[in-house]
Amino acid sequence: MLKKSGLLVSAAVALMLASTGAMAETVKVGVVLTTSGGAAEFGQQISRGMELYLKEHPEALGGHEVELIVRDSKRPGGDIAKTATQELIAREGVDILAGYVFSPNAMSIAPMISQSKTPTVIMNAGTAWIPSLSPYFARVSFTMWQSGYIMGQYAAGALGAKTAAVGYTDYPPGKDSLAAFKAGFESGGGTVVDAIPMGGPREVPDFTPWFQRVKDKAPDVFFVFVPAGNHATAVMKTYGDLGMADAGVRLVGPGDITQDTKLQGMGDGAVGLVTIHHYSADYDTPANNAFVKAWKAAYGADTTPDFMGVGGWDGMAAVASVIRELDGNIDGDKAMAVLRGWTFKDSPRGPISIDADTRDIIQNEQVHKVVKRADGSLGIDVIGQIQNVKDPCKELKIGKCAQ
Ligand code: PHB
Repeated sequence: MLKKSGLLVSAAVALMLASTGAMAETVKVGVVLTTSGGAAEFGQQISRGMELYLKEHPEALGGHEVELIVRDSKRPGGDIAKTATQELIAREGVDILAGYVFSPNAMSIAPMISQSKTPTVIMNAGTAWIPSLSPYFARVSFTMWQSGYIMGQYAAGALGAKTAAVGYTDYPPGKDSLAAFKAGFESGGGTVVDAIPMGGPREVPDFTPWFQRVKDKAPDVFFVFVPAGNHATAVMKTYGDLGMADAGVRLVGPGDITQDTKLQGMGDGAVGLVTIHHYSADYDTPANNAFVKAWKAAYGADTTPDFMGVGGWDGMAAVASVIRELDGNIDGDKAMAVLRGWTFKDSPRGPISIDADTRDIIQNEQVHKVVKRADGSLGIDVIGQIQNVKDPCKELKIGKCAQ
């Protein structure tokens, strides 16, 4: 049963209770997301994913209730997320925390959740070493290395690239993406000839001077990480405007730059683009087809889920498992024991699990290619797959992942 801001929106569990005679607990889940400003769409995707999971799986809570208390982290900088989290722990007394779109927001709360022993399910923030900051973090989304490192290997291997330039948004997941791509590309014999910090995550910059610099250097591939959303749309536009594809500079990146929700606005310049990612709404599998159908029924035929929506759906499934398995009585250490090694075969992205040692997501990564469909729309075809990818940064023990 879902309670949102104290409001009861489903009564399915009352029946279940009558039959079992068990005591229903109300578990408070504090959800910290960007729900206003330029990144409001991210928060909307994640909370829609969470709510849809509960709607489609009322049985998952084991007869208990959940109250989602949502707070707006507004900016990527960490300060507002930290205050909001403090308030959720101290004043609202939440049992579990969830959400966290931007890496600095997740990083800022690590000492606090360690102290309060609050289990926290990260539904987006992708910098590889975040879960190492507190034993109370578990991540269901992705790590920048799962896409960046594999993209580096793929560019040097299948794409036959010898030289690369890297452009990245200058904050932790961007720096992490640079390190990941470089490690993968160099392991395949490639050389990174230029690495360009391209502004921050808050405002979309004018990418033109940086892209022109790359065009002039004429590397075989240009790996770009920017946060999904408006940044990604601007990247595609600038790439097209400067005629970089015709100049022989191939754009590659994580799937953040071909996000499902932004794909149709990217124009024909995106056709042929290759990215590595763990989800696209175009996956033709029974679990994903059912998910997309339910999403459109709930939120409108012209809406689509993207990887953030799936982060919310899968994250809610993880939270529900904790509630069910602890019979509604949440204890931080017991909750983490449920999350360590948690497996979920029916995710829309394919089977996933949480590594028992690192508390990070293990998932398949797909090679995505942007194609033009017969009806003129843009789509994503899967042209390759790497199964059960553990975070390469931790596997290889590189930099902060060595600790
Ligand atoms: C992050 O801040 O970790 C982040 C934000 C947006 C993305 C990916 C990562 O698309």
